Amino acid sequence: MNRLRLTQTLRAGRWRVPSLLLIVATGLSVCSCKETNGPSSEHRSAGVRGETTGARGPSQTVELVNSGARGVVEFSLEARPGDWELSPGHRLQALTYNGTVPGPTIRANVGDNLVIHFKNSLTEPTTIHWHGLRISPEMDGAPASQRPVAPGETFEYRFTVRDAGTFWYHPHVNESHQMEHGLYGAIVVAGPTEPKVDADHVLELDDVRLDDADQIAGSSVRDIRPGRYGNRLVVNGKTDLEIAARAGEVQRWRLINVANARYFRVGLESGQLQVIASDGGFAEAPRIVDDLLLAPGDRYEVLVTGMGAPGTTTRLLSLPVQRSLGGHGPGGRRTGMGGHHARRRHGMASAEETSTRLLTVRYSEASPLRQRDVVVPFQSLPSLNIEGITPTIVRLGDRGCCGRARFTINGASHPNVPALHARVGETQVWHIINDTHGPHPFHLHGYFFQVLGGNAEQPVRAWEDNVHVPAGGQVQIAFRPEGRPGRWLYHCHILEHGEHGMAAELLVTEDIGSRDATAPAQQKPHE
Ligand code: C2O
Ligand code: CU
Repeated sequence: MNRLRLTQTLRAGRWRVPSLLLIVATGLSVCSCKETNGPSSEHRSAGVRGETTGARGPSQTVELVNSGARGVVEFSLEARPGDWELSPGHRLQALTYNGTVPGPTIRANVGDNLVIHFKNSLTEPTTIHWHGLRISPEMDGAPASQRPVAPGETFEYRFTVRDAGTFWYHPHVNESHQMEHGLYGAIVVAGPTEPKVDADHVLELDDVRLDDADQIAGSSVRDIRPGRYGNRLVVNGKTDLEIAARAGEVQRWRLINVANARYFRVGLESGQLQVIASDGGFAEAPRIVDDLLLAPGDRYEVLVTGMGAPGTTTRLLSLPVQRSLGGHGPGGRRTGMGGHHARRRHGMASAEETSTRLLTVRYSEASPLRQRDVVVPFQSLPSLNIEGITPTIVRLGDRGCCGRARFTINGASHPNVPALHARVGETQVWHIINDTHGPHPFHLHGYFFQVLGGNAEQPVRAWEDNVHVPAGGQVQIAFRPEGRPGRWLYHCHILEHGEHGMAAELLVTEDIGSRDATAPAQQKPHE
């Protein structure tokens, strides 16, 4: 594992500014450290029951943690109607996991075996999809591989977590309704080496649409085309989230866009973000940005250094997301020290074109901490050999309008899109072409991919499972199914698009001989 040493550089003059400033990577020195084994392989016998820790873990979310011991993490999740307290005294009738929105944050270590006793206490079928976890297709919770859990029934999810990083879980049945009503939660998997930070916050970015009675509004066919946007921005289910900080401390923020359709562009009121990880864990190198665009489904981890003076506050903002139809050419504005954030240029219009507060950082009165080093275990990623591979074309389209809008992949709508095929060990190159006037976040189940180019060109190599494909643009990805043959879903993560046709299956087989195992795709239960 390569470890790059980041040195925090604080300039005395900045201390008066009530803002957060990022640690800056200076003199990156690489040391080769002996690969440490996953910690858990030997101690898997003890069934440790995950505890729900009180009401306030970091960032005010409830946690399910492996209480110290390594090995088996066992806990219960129940999907059930419940209250969602948006702000003090403002309760929404919602759908919850274990009674909270977001659902409990699941914390585990790489190598842990998770056992989740799931109960569906909703009045409709549901599943849990473990977004980003490399698990077997039977446990993936997608309609391609799991029959939905009927109301009143239970299902036991069992899998081993293989990768460190920030993931999330959500239903894969009637998602646009169930997720809008609050069914989602975060998964944090720790690796053998983690940066030593002063605080580690999961920040689940969402929006929710309220009606005149201040309850969650019903849906409309007008939501299909753009996807459902909300009229309140929430972080960890709150419109008024506050994070406590001490001046000078370094915090790790794990951003997850759990919204139905909204792209979030986030930035600090003053200061920058140091991106250290994306969907599939640590990137190859850090990059410093003014702001970050998160498509629905995306995760980024950033380090933030509290540069505000004791007793002051600063804010994380939701910045305007400009409509961009063209993914072509260098037309976009570039700003910031990094200046490389190509994705920012390709957002779509949001309801408000002004900046909105997402959360407040409140500095304690304590004296500023001294600067110190934070070591981030950046991973060196294999470069996939794509020479001579014929790209697979995945063309995202739409047809019809209004209430009858359908979204397509290669001209057909789910469940009638012919499955794509891949063999275990065979590198895939996909050209994802967006032939529509709106953006689509492309999500692949089961495997991480690298973005090779196109309009989502990335300045540093990283593993992704979700990528923004701008309107009229295209993105090239490569991945190699390393095992786990089966039926995997890929789809647009704007939930309304996925439900109205922009979804399909990838059939991964052990060898080419078993190709005729193709059976008609299972119909989504709500269609
Ligand atoms: Cu997060 Cu198939 O989804
Ligand atoms: Cu879409």
